[in-house]
Amino acid sequence: MNLKGIVLAGGTGSRLLPLTKVTNKHLLPVGQKPMIYYPIEKLIGAGIDEILIVTGTEHMGDMVNLLGSGPDFHCRFTYKVQDEAGGIAQALSLAENFAHGAPVAVILGDNIFEDALQPYAEAFRAQRQGARIIGKEVSDPERFGVAEVVGDRVVAIEEKPKSPKSHIAVTGIYFYDSQVFEIIRACRPSARGELEITDVNNAYIHKGQLRFHLMTGWWSDAGTFSSLAHVNSLVAQWPPKV
Ligand code: G1P
Repeated sequence: MNLKGIVLAGGTGSRLLPLTKVTNKHLLPVGQKPMIYYPIEKLIGAGIDEILIVTGTEHMGDMVNLLGSGPDFHCRFTYKVQDEAGGIAQALSLAENFAHGAPVAVILGDNIFEDALQPYAEAFRAQRQGARIIGKEVSDPERFGVAEVVGDRVVAIEEKPKSPKSHIAVTGIYFYDSQVFEIIRACRPSARGELEITDVNNAYIHKGQLRFHLMTGWWSDAGTFSSLAHVNSLVAQWPPKV
């Protein structure tokens, strides 16, 4: 079945105020393009041509003005509004009709990375069932979902742990089969009031259906001033592959 793409580009961008006072974080410049171009180009490079953009009400107009229906990218865009910031898993739940039973590749709109997505997508296509996540060794794991790895298996993921069990951050690049929407329906809000993608991934671990890959090239989020500056320098030195 055809893999469909989803870019999650909601959230308030509060850590980047005042840059995000009048625009969406994912429209801010990274190198010579708006941030959201990077995840879109990765999906297209992996042979995915149906892409859903999920974003908030405030800047949906700007997003549509920028991307249109997709001819400039040789793909088809669909848009979905996330009325309130309720977490990544809640944003993903809005994609159920779009997915229509197909497996999905999900990228958080502020995740910028060097590697092409294609080999990861191929590995997921080959596994036929379950989910696949991508980890990256980082020096500040407490900022992320952190994977506890035994051999080549992830046995648990903790969201922003105070004492991380490894240095492997779970990146915002996820592949899911159609079970994901049922799993999200069973999730409950975390202490920060959000439906956590980490709970979704842990549910796949409990089913024995989560596969994992370590990323070789550079990876960063771009949601803070320091990470945004860092990403800008990485993009200039080692342009992302598509
Ligand atoms: C989210 C996820 C986290 C993941 C990170 C990757 O965190 O909750 O598990 O490691 O994205 O960018 P956020 O930065 O949205 O708080």
